[in-house]
Amino acid sequence: MARRLELLAWARESGAWIIEDDYASEFRYGGRPLASLQGLDEAGRVIYVGTLNKALFPGLRLGYAVLPHPLVRNFVAARYLIDRQPSSLCQSVAAAFMEEGHFAAHIRRMREVYRRQRDTLVAALRRRLGDHLSVEPPDQGMHLVAYTRRGLSDVKIERAARDHGVTVRAMSRHYIEAPAQSALMLGFSGYPQQTIAPAVARLARAIAADCVPD
Ligand SMILES: Cc1ncc(COP(=O)(O)O)c(C=O)c1O
Repeated sequence: MARRLELLAWARESGAWIIEDDYASEFRYGGRPLASLQGLDEAGRVIYVGTLNKALFPGLRLGYAVLPHPLVRNFVAARYLIDRQPSSLCQSVAAAFMEEGHFAAHIRRMREVYRRQRDTLVAALRRRLGDHLSVEPPDQGMHLVAYTRRGLSDVKIERAARDHGVTVRAMSRHYIEAPAQSALMLGFSGYPQQTIAPAVARLARAIAADCVPD
């Protein structure tokens, strides 16, 4: 919270805009709920963007923005230039889906499904790869980050995993200035629970075969 308030104060003082991309906030599994920057902002500096493409399904192509009032006209004009609007039919169906309570029920159900998948992934990683990876279950979202131990290279693991049919993303590539840390990003929302342990077993074989010095 302190960092959030500091960021808002900075935006107010410097006249900057903050774009808050809160795309996985529906899936919170524990810890205290986090107030959005947009909800805390009293100076109208936050542009809040969200999407239904994760919470419902990617092919829907529906997102939304909550804008400070003075920006509404410009955003509407830009949107008009880009592609006018998403399908009105999809918007109406999504609105009815929410009004009839199905969206909230869907989120509640999926939160439990994703929580089980997250816990299965964390347990499997700790069991099979505890010597090589350090894993904490995230409180929110659809991915977890596993830091590598003993200097193992995330980029090497990414390549070896791909050769064994498992997709993980090397996080060290995403650093700009801070010293890069070696870690893997793994998604857990898109994979049925029974597929997770076999995938971790493949990942463990990939690491043992190609990444660990003899
Ligand atoms: C950071 C971030 N924001 C938003 C989205 C959602 O994008 P879209 O609504 O275009 O599917 C994604 C998708 O992966 C994302 O990674």
